Amino acid sequence: MAVYQATASAPVNIACIKYWGKRDTKLILPTNSSLSVTLDQDHLRSTTTSRADPSFKHDRLWLNGEEEEIKDGGRMATCIAEMKRLRKEEVEDKQPNEPKLSTYPVHIASFNNFPTAAGLASSASGFAALVSSLAQLYQLPVSPSTLSVIARQGSGSACRSLFGGFVAWEQGTKPDGSDSLAVQVAPQSHWPDIHALICVVSDDKKGTSSTSGMQRTVETSPLLQHRIKHVVPQRMVDISKAILDRDFDAFAAITMADSNQFHAVALDTEPPIFYMNDVSRAIIALIVEYNRVSVAKGLGRKAAYTYDAGPNAVIYTKKENVKEIVELIVKYFPQKEGSFKDVFGLFGGADVAKSEG
Ligand code: DP6
Repeated sequence: MAVYQATASAPVNIACIKYWGKRDTKLILPTNSSLSVTLDQDHLRSTTTSRADPSFKHDRLWLNGEEEEIKDGGRMATCIAEMKRLRKEEVEDKQPNEPKLSTYPVHIASFNNFPTAAGLASSASGFAALVSSLAQLYQLPVSPSTLSVIARQGSGSACRSLFGGFVAWEQGTKPDGSDSLAVQVAPQSHWPDIHALICVVSDDKKGTSSTSGMQRTVETSPLLQHRIKHVVPQRMVDISKAILDRDFDAFAAITMADSNQFHAVALDTEPPIFYMNDVSRAIIALIVEYNRVSVAKGLGRKAAYTYDAGPNAVIYTKKENVKEIVELIVKYFPQKEGSFKDVFGLFGGADVAKSEG
């Protein structure tokens, strides 16, 4: 008997222009476009195996070895149903001899290989890997952008993990969300010099989830309205140009400004949301000073910090500066135990540093 099984993996991405706010919470349509860098390291990935079998009773899911319920009408159920629909429309309806995999229940097992110490959200890589593995299982003749429309319905930021390199999520205008999808702005090979240094300030579970936090921001923040109308559209244009021109100074300025504004809209939410802590703010001060010295020497900015819905810093820089920045951080934020070397190699695509300081 034929075995229908496929495995795929997807990496984590970190946004430079932040997605924060939905105009449609069911379809996960954003209030603004966003742009991220997909981290290429083998260490920061979700790997998912899917299997379809007519003898299975119903769809089931295991995350890191533990079974999770697939709630009716929930995000996971939606993604699986959408992938089965594509299988039927794109394969079975067109080629009647193909097996009717869309009618078989699926069993899905997913693993994240990143250490919990990295404190990274796994929903982006998780849903991207889920959609990729089902696309392979179902032999779908569709583009990554088409798959991104489905991954988006699992977790908004997941749509960007369908591509490597520099990736935009275009907010789209259609009510059905068919044009709210990810596109690659440039492959990693266009600017391989860019590295991401991940500074783990705390691996505690965050206080306010992205999903509920951004909804509260949409409902209460006047600043968000200014951001989505008057700030993000131009930033998307400017950062895409900076990437295409390999202009690190401009890339850094926009990335830091957008992180700042994202945390400003969190603070402008009622009740206010604080994602950064004192260590996060001290790292900002360090990078600001580091850039000030570099700009004074006529070298432009050498580093860019960005923070998501938590206190951990991601620092983008060029490879030539990674060592210097890691040394600076170690100097000002001494490690309690171990050091950078026990997490990730310094010159991978992503470099992870842990500091509880
Ligand atoms: C701050 O994609 O996790 O990381 O769509 O509700 O699942 P849902 O939210 P999620 O939000 C990510 C928010 C962010 C910014 C970003 O990645 O663009």
